[in-house]
Amino acid sequence: MISLIVAVSKNNVIGNNGKIPWKITGEQRRFKELTTGKTIIMGRKSFEEIGRPLPNRKTILISNTQNIATENCTTVKSLPEAFELVKNEDEVFVAGGGQVYNEAYPYADRIYITVIDKIINGNVYFPPINLDDFIKIYEERIDGDVSYTYYTYERIKR
Ligand SMILES: NC(=O)c1ccc[n+]([C@@H]2O[C@H](COP(=O)([O-])OP(=O)(O)OC[C@H]3O[C@@H](n4cnc5c(N)ncnc54)[C@H](OP(=O)(O)O)[C@@H]3O)[C@@H](O)[C@H]2O)c1
Repeated sequence: MISLIVAVSKNNVIGNNGKIPWKITGEQRRFKELTTGKTIIMGRKSFEEIGRPLPNRKTILISNTQNIATENCTTVKSLPEAFELVKNEDEVFVAGGGQVYNEAYPYADRIYITVIDKIINGNVYFPPINLDDFIKIYEERIDGDVSYTYYTYERIKR
């Protein structure tokens, strides 16, 4: 199963000038819970923002300019190459950024999306989820100074 995991503002922004343009305590809890022990796939620009492979999971980096190979990080040159490496895994997480989400969206079986309850400026967006293809299977609102809602969408099987 291929899952996209993302946090967006109310206006679908995911990034601004190479960074995530918010810091909300607790908002990344679901990312950590879901991806620990699994494989995440990410583009080079998102990887550079974090600066290192995240602990306790495997990272597949997509890049034609970098080649990082460590015990828990592999680099490939395309998304299909990444999918080939994880074809025997139950669930793999595509973790951004904009370019990689756009490429992976047609293959997504599931989308875990956190919607921050605020309009935020940015220059990288998540593609709109087409509700002809996806159904909402989970919703949990977390109230706080800046509230957010965890949603899960699953691709409708035809
Ligand atoms: N809100 C969230 O949940 C979230 C999550 C992740 C990231 N972000 C944000 O997203 C932004 C980054 O997104 P982005 O779209 O600019 O970049 P990106 O998708 O993170 O990385 C793009 C890079 O990945 C490589 N790549 C992607 N597709 C490829 C392909 N098919 N073949 C070869 N290489 C490929 C290329 O690297 P090379 O140039 O090295 O070849 C490309 O320049 C940042 O602002 C980040 O903070 C937000």
